[in-house]
Amino acid sequence: MFLVVLIFLCVCVSGIQCDIKNLQNQVQSLKLDAESQSVCQNLLLELKECDGDTKQHLQNQIYYRLGLIQLSLNQEWKAIGSFESVDQEDSFGQPAKRALERLYTQYGIWDKVEGSLKDEFVNLNSSSSSLPIDTLREMLKISPYDYYTRTLMREALLNELRERLDVSNAQQFIANSEVILEKHAIRLDLSQRISLHFEAAVIQMFVVNSTPTHLRKCLALDMDYEPCKKLTLLNTRLGKINPSRSQILDPEVYAFDEGKLDWQDIASFYLVDEKPCAKVPKGYHFQNNYKLINDITQQYLSEILGKSTESDFQRFIETILCQASCQAPKTKKLTNSFCKKLLKDELTSEEYKKVLGSARNGDQLPEKFLENLWNSSPNLAMYAVESIMHKGAKKSASLQDQLLDFFQRQKLSQSTNKYVRTQFNSINGLVLQRQQQQQQQQRQQQKWFFHQQQQQKQQQQRQQPPPPPLHTDKDYYKILNVPKTATAKEIRKAYLSFTKMYHPDKQGQLTEEKQKKIDEKMSEINEAYETLSDESKRKDYDMARTGGGRRTGTPGGGMFRQQGGNPFQFNQNFKFNFGF
Ligand SMILES: *[C@@H]1O[C@H](CO)[C@@H](O)[C@H](O)[C@H]1NC(C)=O
Repeated sequence: MFLVVLIFLCVCVSGIQCDIKNLQNQVQSLKLDAESQSVCQNLLLELKECDGDTKQHLQNQIYYRLGLIQLSLNQEWKAIGSFESVDQEDSFGQPAKRALERLYTQYGIWDKVEGSLKDEFVNLNSSSSSLPIDTLREMLKISPYDYYTRTLMREALLNELRERLDVSNAQQFIANSEVILEKHAIRLDLSQRISLHFEAAVIQMFVVNSTPTHLRKCLALDMDYEPCKKLTLLNTRLGKINPSRSQILDPEVYAFDEGKLDWQDIASFYLVDEKPCAKVPKGYHFQNNYKLINDITQQYLSEILGKSTESDFQRFIETILCQASCQAPKTKKLTNSFCKKLLKDELTSEEYKKVLGSARNGDQLPEKFLENLWNSSPNLAMYAVESIMHKGAKKSASLQDQLLDFFQRQKLSQSTNKYVRTQFNSINGLVLQRQQQQQQQQRQQQKWFFHQQQQQKQQQQRQQPPPPPLHTDKDYYKILNVPKTATAKEIRKAYLSFTKMYHPDKQGQLTEEKQKKIDEKMSEINEAYETLSDESKRKDYDMARTGGGRRTGTPGGGMFRQQGGNPFQFNQNFKFNFGF
């Protein structure tokens, strides 16, 4: 009775009644959103007016609900507090405990955890005095938000970046900073958070060469933080002048974003403009914006890394300037040197030597060389082609074929990039010109060959051996015993009768003396027949005999005369003649 009066009094004083049924209904309809979080807080207040076991159980339920809501809002620290408020003995105690174990492990609150995951983590943690990145990565798989491991990871990644400004390491460094900022904001003071944002922004801008989103977050914490202010100004200025990264690397548009980019302006801004693009830091002598940006980049990077290294951002600016060399004639001399530098950096010294050999002497390039270069840096591939075209390609047909083959295989003859098409046209022109020259040469060669043949023919005709001299002192008609008017048939008949007459079979045994005489006689007959049986020779002979005068006795003729008089030869003829 006293209790009832007390409750009644209390309700009257506060104006709130404990309506457990209503509270239970409200808890059932809670959603997982920010609004529900404040609804929970109110429900807990209202619940204070209630009493008994039902109150305790409902309170545990509300804390468990609140923990889930906070988890869904990425407020893990608050969720830990809520889950810890759930009575372990309650039916919501078990799910709350499981959620807590997960969170303790994720956040590395190891004094509250037992089990195999903890053992594994402690094992990795004690495996070496300075933990390598791979081990840290394994530890973060178990405990992704462990502050201790995250800070070690940050240091390890910075060390890697000191060695080499690797873009993927830089991205991991930024992601790592983001986890620290997001999950441990409550344990960091303002200046720590500002400097984490600033460092992430520097790495974003100069190493990853992406939009430095952390600059805005840095200024959101402190609008007057000088380093973030300066970097923002520089970024804005460069954002207006620089082409985007995709414009630079896309082989279809690089160097030519027709109508949108003024490459001459860009080149002038970096190399000859007198107005500095950013406040010149103390101690830096301003010459041109390219040098200034290099200096600023080095300054910011060495602030974080403790040393200066050439960064991707510098290469990006150099790539822009190299591409400007195709389009900015006024500064071509200046911009071209950037292409040369980039090509040298991109290639091994061996490869670079090969390109020089091609450019100077027309040496063949290594197989697939241009293809590979084109895939990694299209603008450098075109720069190499242009350099080779300048001199080397004019010296070597096989190099021309190699270049043309590259363009055709990559289907670059139809490229939408005007600069690429220009290169293709000039190499194609060179090959066509060569083919035309070859055809002309062939035609000339054929002409020359024909001419040569003609000359040879004429020469051969001129060089034809003069006919054997005619022995005009002998009367061949008389020797063959035919009249001067004898026909060819009569001459042949007479000759055959002589050969029959002197045939060795019909001679029987002869003395040497006699045989010799017969041979001589036969040789004379042969000679006479040879002349008279040949119509043209007979004509000449007749003319000579009648005094028409064919000169005899040339040196060659003398030789022939001798040969002609060689009884041995006539003997042979004689023997041969017996054949028919
Ligand atoms: C990990 O190692 C560090 C340094 O040896 C130590 O201070 C820390 O307590 C260890 N953490 C765990 C969970 O073992």
